[in-house]
Amino acid sequence: MRVIVSIGGSVLAPDLEADRVEAHADVLDGLVAEGHEVAAVVGGGGVARRYIGTARDLGATEYDLDALGIDVTRLNARLLIAALDSSATPEPAESHEAARASLRRGEVAVMGGTIPGHTTDAVAALLAEMAEADLLVYATSVPGVFSADPNVDSGAERYDELSAGELVDVISSIETAAGSNAPVDLLAAKIIERSGLRAVVLDGSEPPRIADAVAGDADGTEVRPDE
Ligand code: UTP
Repeated sequence: MRVIVSIGGSVLAPDLEADRVEAHADVLDGLVAEGHEVAAVVGGGGVARRYIGTARDLGATEYDLDALGIDVTRLNARLLIAALDSSATPEPAESHEAARASLRRGEVAVMGGTIPGHTTDAVAALLAEMAEADLLVYATSVPGVFSADPNVDSGAERYDELSAGELVDVISSIETAAGSNAPVDLLAAKIIERSGLRAVVLDGSEPPRIADAVAGDADGTEVRPDE
């Protein structure tokens, strides 16, 4: 299978601990050893948020805050590359074209963000679309897609399965609620919908769950293409 794994920065390197990065790299190496084609898109996490907060206080524009966030995603991508045993992109791919070329060379393609205006959720969905991936895995800090933000609403329930159209509706309603944090952003959901991608949203704090999802035993929310 061709698999794109989106790894949130807060899941890959919450405290910049080598062990956690290694655990994610081990899972990706294991997928390669099983014969899968693998690409990883890495987020910025708490480190990106801290840089962005400080730069916002200093008066930086939203564009420049995004650029700062992209830089941090690429730093995290470098950590993952350092930990991978499989042949990987030597430098984080800065464009989807570069990531696709890397996949075609048989490497693990690793990238962070690309351009201001979106997040790595959308970067991963676009890469899955471009590379015609069989599966897109979102390894996030929450165990799936909920009916509301579980950190804000104790009555939030997890969906085991959603159609892509339902995912768009659920994410729209979560993003409309002030201060809430959707597990996947709306642009990513719309790309998943338009291209009929198969996706899984799961808790990435236990990296082996990513391999379980690829093996067809996902513990999270499975998104299936619309009929
Ligand atoms: P993330 O993808 O980590 O953002 O990118 P996030 O989803 O808010 O954070 P997680 O899921 O908790 O890790 C960090 C920031 O980098 C910028 C955005 O400002 C984003 O919030 N960014 C990232 C871009 O502008 N473009 C990109 O392609 C990627």
